[in-house]
Amino acid sequence: MKDALPRSAKVAVIGAGTMGTGIAQVAASAGHAVYLHDAFPGACERGKKAIEKDLAALVSRGKLAADEAAAIAARVHPIHKLHAAADSALVIEAIVEDEEAKRTLYGALEAEVASGCIIATNTSSLSITALARGMKHPERLVGMHFFNPAPRMALVEVVSGLFTSPEVAAQVAATANAWGKTSVQVKSTPGFIVNRVARPFYGEALRLLAEQAADPATLDALLRDSAMFRMGPCELMDMIGLDVNLAVTTSLFQAMGYDRRYAPSLLQQELVRAGRLGRKSGEGFYRYVDGEAGPTAAVEPTAEAAESITLTGELAPLQALAARLKNAGIGVKQVARSDPVEPGVARVALSDGRSATRRAVEEHGQDFVLLDLCLDYAKAVRIGVTRAAQCRDEPYRAVVGALQKAGFAVTPVADVAGLVVLRTVAMLANEAADVVAQGIGSAADVDTAMRLGTNYPQGPLAWADQLGPALVARVLANLQAHYGEDRYRISPALNRLRWSGGKFHA
Ligand code: NAI
Repeated sequence: MKDALPRSAKVAVIGAGTMGTGIAQVAASAGHAVYLHDAFPGACERGKKAIEKDLAALVSRGKLAADEAAAIAARVHPIHKLHAAADSALVIEAIVEDEEAKRTLYGALEAEVASGCIIATNTSSLSITALARGMKHPERLVGMHFFNPAPRMALVEVVSGLFTSPEVAAQVAATANAWGKTSVQVKSTPGFIVNRVARPFYGEALRLLAEQAADPATLDALLRDSAMFRMGPCELMDMIGLDVNLAVTTSLFQAMGYDRRYAPSLLQQELVRAGRLGRKSGEGFYRYVDGEAGPTAAVEPTAEAAESITLTGELAPLQALAARLKNAGIGVKQVARSDPVEPGVARVALSDGRSATRRAVEEHGQDFVLLDLCLDYAKAVRIGVTRAAQCRDEPYRAVVGALQKAGFAVTPVADVAGLVVLRTVAMLANEAADVVAQGIGSAADVDTAMRLGTNYPQGPLAWADQLGPALVARVLANLQAHYGEDRYRISPALNRLRWSGGKFHA
C-alpha cells in the first residue's frame, strides 16, 4: 500500500461550492495547507467563511478546541489564479458536473503543476476514463468521490479509469484514510458503487407505488421499522429532490445502454412534471405544510391472537420470529409443504418472491399468509403481512393477533410478489453482486460503501449471506417469472453462490 501524502504536502481544491468547501475543510483539518480556487468572483472567500462557520459550530458543541478551529481556518488560502496552486501535490477538482469544463480545467492545471502532482475529481457521474482523455499525463487522474456533507460523511470512493495508475489510486486511498475517511476502491463505471447499488432502493419503492401495493407512508415505515433503514425511500427521495433523483437514474439508465433494469419510473417523471419535487417545492410524495400532520402507515386493528402459528417454507430466517412468538405465549408449529394443517388454520411463511395467492394454490392451503422480511425479527417493531386472495378473514386475523401479541405493529400490504422489504433487499443484493461479478469493487468494499455512503443498516451482500444466497436467488427468479421482466435477472455472482452454497464474505 502506498503511503498517504505527508502533512507538509500542499492540497488545492478547485470549485468552492458545496462539495469543494467541505473537502477543503477535511484536508485543512488533516493538517494540509489548502488552496481554494473558484472561477466565480468571491466564491472562494464565501467558501472559507462557510468553513469558519462550520468549525465554529463544532467548537460550540464542544467537538473542537477554539485554537484548533482557528488553525484549521488559517490553513485555507483562497487563490484567484491557478498559478498560485503550482506547488500542490494533490489537486481535488469539485467544479460543475460538466465533462468539457472539467477537461478544460485539467489542461490548464497540467500547465501549472509539477508532473508528479495528482489530479483528483469529485465527479459523481462522469467516466474517469473519458475525463482523462487528452491529458498530458492521464495516469494521474483519479476519482476521489466524497459524499455530502464531506466533513461528516465517512466514505470516499477512489475511482480508477482505464488510464489511472494503481500507485496514484493507492496514494489517494491512503490519503483519504489518513484524513479520517474510509476509502473503497472502485473501477470507473456509471454510478460507481453507491449511486448504482442504491438504485433499487428507490426503484422498487416506485414500482410498488405504481402497483398500488401500499402508500408512501406505509412503504417508508416498513423500510424504517422492519428493515432499519434510517429513512424510507419516499421520504428520502423527497429530501434529495425528485428531480435530482430522477436525473441520477436517467443518467445511469443512459450510461448502462438503456438496460431496462435502470429505467426511470413513469410515476416519478409525472411528479417532476407537476413540480412536486419534494421538500424544496413543498410537496413530493408528502406535503410539507407547517402544522399539517403527515399520513401514517397502515396498521391492522387489534385482533384476537391465535393460540399457535403454523410456519412453513423457508424456516431458517424465521427462527428469531418463532422464539419471539413463543416468548409471547404463542405456540409455533413448523410444517412441510405437504403436511396437512387443521381446517381454519393459516399457513404462514416468509415470502419467497411468489404471491400468497399463488402459494395458496401450489401448497394446497387456502388460508395462506405471507410475512415480509425484517432485519432482525427479535427486535423489529413492525412487520409487513399479506394474504392470499382465497384466505378467509378468521385465520388471517388470528395470525395478525399473534404477531401483535408478540409486539409487532402489523402492516398490511397488497399481495405483491416479494412484498416490500424482501424484494428491496434482494434487488440491492443483486445489484451489489453484479458490481462484484464485473470486478468493479470487492464484496467487502461494496458493503462498506453502502453502509457509510448511504447509512444502510447492513451491507447488502452481508444481508444476502445472512438470508442465504440461494434464497435471494430464488426470490429473484420468482420475481422474474412473476413480472416476466429482465429487471429481476439474477447476477452471475449470486447464481454461482446459489449452486455452490458459498457466501459473499468467506
Ligand atoms: P456547486 O455548484 O455547489 O459548486 C461548484 C463550484 O464550482 C461553483 O462555486 C462554481 O462557481 C465553480 N466552478 C464552476 N466551473 C468552474 C471552473 N471552470 N473553475 C473553477 N470553478 C468553477 O456544486 P457541488 O454540488 O459542490 O458539486 C461539485 C462537484 O461535486 C460536481 O462534479 C458534482 O457532481 C460532485 N458531487 C456533488 C455532490 C453533492 O451532493 N452536491 C456529492 C458528490 C459529488
